[in-house]
Amino acid sequence: MLSTPIRYALRALSTFYPLQKPLVFSGSGATLKLSDLLLAAGQKKPLLVTDSFLLENNKLDPLLEHLNAHDCEVTIFDGSIPNPTFTEVETGLKLSIDNNCDSVVAIGGGSVIDVAKVIAAASTNNVTLNKLAGILKVKQTPLPFYVVPTTSGTGSEVTNAAVISDTKTHKKQFFVDPKYVPIAAALDPELLKSLPAHMTAAVGMDALTHAIEAYTSRNNFADTDRDAAMAIKLLFDYLPVAYAEGENLKAREMVAQASFLAGYAFSKSSLGYVHAISHQVSAHYNTPHGLTNAIILPRVLRFNKKVCAEHFAKLEVMLGGDSSADTNTLAEQFTVRVDQLAEQTGIPANLPELKEEDFRNIAKDALAEAWRSYAVPKVMRRKDVEMILHSISVGDRNVSFA
Ligand SMILES: [Fe+2]
Repeated sequence: MLSTPIRYALRALSTFYPLQKPLVFSGSGATLKLSDLLLAAGQKKPLLVTDSFLLENNKLDPLLEHLNAHDCEVTIFDGSIPNPTFTEVETGLKLSIDNNCDSVVAIGGGSVIDVAKVIAAASTNNVTLNKLAGILKVKQTPLPFYVVPTTSGTGSEVTNAAVISDTKTHKKQFFVDPKYVPIAAALDPELLKSLPAHMTAAVGMDALTHAIEAYTSRNNFADTDRDAAMAIKLLFDYLPVAYAEGENLKAREMVAQASFLAGYAFSKSSLGYVHAISHQVSAHYNTPHGLTNAIILPRVLRFNKKVCAEHFAKLEVMLGGDSSADTNTLAEQFTVRVDQLAEQTGIPANLPELKEEDFRNIAKDALAEAWRSYAVPKVMRRKDVEMILHSISVGDRNVSFA
């Protein structure tokens, strides 16, 4: 867990320099409304960072026609990939500079948005990407930056950070600065409805993890508690619907709202051990982030159940639990409710990739990440992480801790 001086320093930073939220356009047609804002601001040469699937399936035709009709000269960069590297950013940056782009619009998943964030900053800061990596390294204001997420879960549309791997070292580099927060985001269900069910579930459970880790963080604030709780409510109500009925626009929009709220909450407060363990598991076995979190989450809830009993009980009552039941019973019901949501959305109980011989290193690195970065409610020991990993390898969600 974060040392006390760092936790207080972070708290002071968040209090005196609060994280800004982007403007939000929501519902069918939100993308066009966002583009109207760009036009009204006088931007005529946007760089559109997106993925080829959206272009090839004509998903962006209405936006491109709208911008062309208003004499916009759109430069398209569709070379972003999952787990992007400096190479992708440098290719997009060259397009931005060569075409004298005056703004950046990201339409895609978390990787596309991360690449676009760094392109927007690098376009106005004449430094190498290595110099831009790190905390508070953005000196000049980035190009005006707009976002349309096409997966609901990463929260990248609202966060102040991007993760890009160094092409040479393959190490993930974190770019963290309030200037990475977009001007505006469009939560457009028309662009979300084709997300496959298994990805809908995985990224939705990632959003749930963001919300729960923010809600139980020791660096929480009144607004992060409120946004995290609302995100949790929306996810329990609408994620199963979005999973079962991909074309249900209301469910898609509500899950996108939940992702946005959870993204804001964890950016300001903190993540926790689910992410600390998940990052190491994904680094070892290349497992998808959302799915890995979804599988780890029930175990970490059980680890935190005693110390977070009041938090879990409040959430359980919000979700319809019996308010006359005692706190520990409600907390237990909440963990079962999360298991049920995972089952309802097809999240498996185990990860077959896990190998016993890796547990020690995964645990060591997870504890180090949490120590550096997260205001967790209760400190884990190495054997706790190893128990969690073992429970995942045998597919038992109901692990019990001493
Ligand atoms: Fe996450």
